[in-house]
Amino acid sequence: MRSQLFAPVFLAAAWFSTLPAQAESYHFTPSLQQSFTTIVIFQNQQGTLYGSDTLSAKTLTQLARAANAAEFRGKQGQLLELLAPNDISADRIILVGLGDKKLTSGEVNELGGALAQRLAELPSQDIGILVESMPEGEHFAAQFAHGIELQSYRFTRYRDVELKPKHYHFAIDDAAIASRYHSQLQAVESGVFLARDMTNATAGDMYPGSFATEAQKLRKLGVKVEILDRRKLQALNMGALLGVGQGSEREPLLVVAQWQGSDDAPIALVGKGITFDSGGYNIKATGTTIVRMKSDMAGAATVLGTIKAMAVQQAPINVVGVMPLAENMVSDRALRPGDVVMTAEGKSVEVTNTDAEGRLILADGLWYARTIYQPQMMVDVATLTGSKVRALGYEYTGLFSDHPQLIEQLSYSGQEVGEKLWRLPLDKVYADELKSDIADMKNTGRTAGASVAAMFLHTFVGETPWAHLDIAGNALTSTGNQLAPIGATGHGVRLLSHWLTEFQTYPQADTAAR
Ligand code: BES
Ligand code: MN
Ligand code: ZN
Repeated sequence: MRSQLFAPVFLAAAWFSTLPAQAESYHFTPSLQQSFTTIVIFQNQQGTLYGSDTLSAKTLTQLARAANAAEFRGKQGQLLELLAPNDISADRIILVGLGDKKLTSGEVNELGGALAQRLAELPSQDIGILVESMPEGEHFAAQFAHGIELQSYRFTRYRDVELKPKHYHFAIDDAAIASRYHSQLQAVESGVFLARDMTNATAGDMYPGSFATEAQKLRKLGVKVEILDRRKLQALNMGALLGVGQGSEREPLLVVAQWQGSDDAPIALVGKGITFDSGGYNIKATGTTIVRMKSDMAGAATVLGTIKAMAVQQAPINVVGVMPLAENMVSDRALRPGDVVMTAEGKSVEVTNTDAEGRLILADGLWYARTIYQPQMMVDVATLTGSKVRALGYEYTGLFSDHPQLIEQLSYSGQEVGEKLWRLPLDKVYADELKSDIADMKNTGRTAGASVAAMFLHTFVGETPWAHLDIAGNALTSTGNQLAPIGATGHGVRLLSHWLTEFQTYPQADTAAR
């Protein structure tokens, strides 16, 4: 009876085949019939309590009294755990506060994440979540489930983690619509989790060659994957990427992954893929920074994760991910401070600091993306500067662009999913700091490190509309947050997936229309 009731959901799950086998399960149905260990109910700050289709008026009155006695006011993110009244077939009730305004998707995700954190400490296995009669409840239910799932991620490569998968049952008016939204979000999750897995892997395990192997696995989803090895990079004159990679036994590569879901000119995403950043001869002096530098390929992982998210949901978008990959090491073959490299663009660069390596590999990556693919626009993602971390910390990503539409669209998407962007200046004055005595330019300036780095990149984008996202500090969390446990966050996959599906599905769509 149960499998019949949930048949449409299982069909959707079969289409989506890349979730770990023993993950939690999510069901959407118009009404809940079985009994649960925990029932979740939502209340806003105006006092509206949802769930009247499942619960009797008497029960709701009892709950309202208990909530009042416990000073639960329905504030956004407030949780209250109650023992269930006698006439409910559950052990426990959790009230979740919705606040007093319309929530963004990201805020709904965070409510789901907060619930998942609370439930992780409880033995509950079967959870009923009452979203019936909530306005736009289908969207809410799907986003709430998304938040639970993002928080429930565990990295299991290096130790066994005991997983007690929970089963979530949503009572929702239009179950088919809710589960369709949810399938799309699960596609995004598969991209987030790929990026997290790759970024959490040690630099010993995640190097250019093994990164390329991960990219090749997307071929089974219909993604076109190309790998350019040292010989091909030499033929393209990518002296900057080759230079950064020359100190490592593991050869640098350029990986290209394209999801061609439409015949439009592609959108290019370019990701910094430094699989380990020792700093080179300008070696990172403090143990606390260098030990986190396995995550210096997070930009490339975010790009690959976004390509996966688009492929899994078969999005009608043509998007190409360009990922220059290198390991920045110290050896007798490594770049010396003061060496000059020649970029594919034809501009020579004096390497005044071997620790400013990300902009070097991106120079060749941006050149490749724009000359080979002639994209409509380019967005690069990079853990580029410590300066960005000092300016904005972990909550915001640095956005650099002079293209009004890209700025507006990306900022909107960031706000909506909760991967927020803050604009920092791009200005010719910062480029002036990059003048070299012996080459066309040098790779470091004096002031405003994040803006100088952005202006360095600007040299290599030609006329293509472009935005640069500096995700330094966003890629790893040492405390965990509502949507990610401690470790890699996969930051940027949700932002870029939202941006692509909201704004790039129909080329004429713009923010003014919404
Ligand atoms: N990968 C680092 C930036 C970074 C720092 C990312 C902290 C995440 C956390 C980058 O390659 C780097 O070393 N940048 C230098 C550039 C400087 C030498 C001009 C920096 O920002 O300190
Ligand atoms: Mn560096
Ligand atoms: Zn770096």
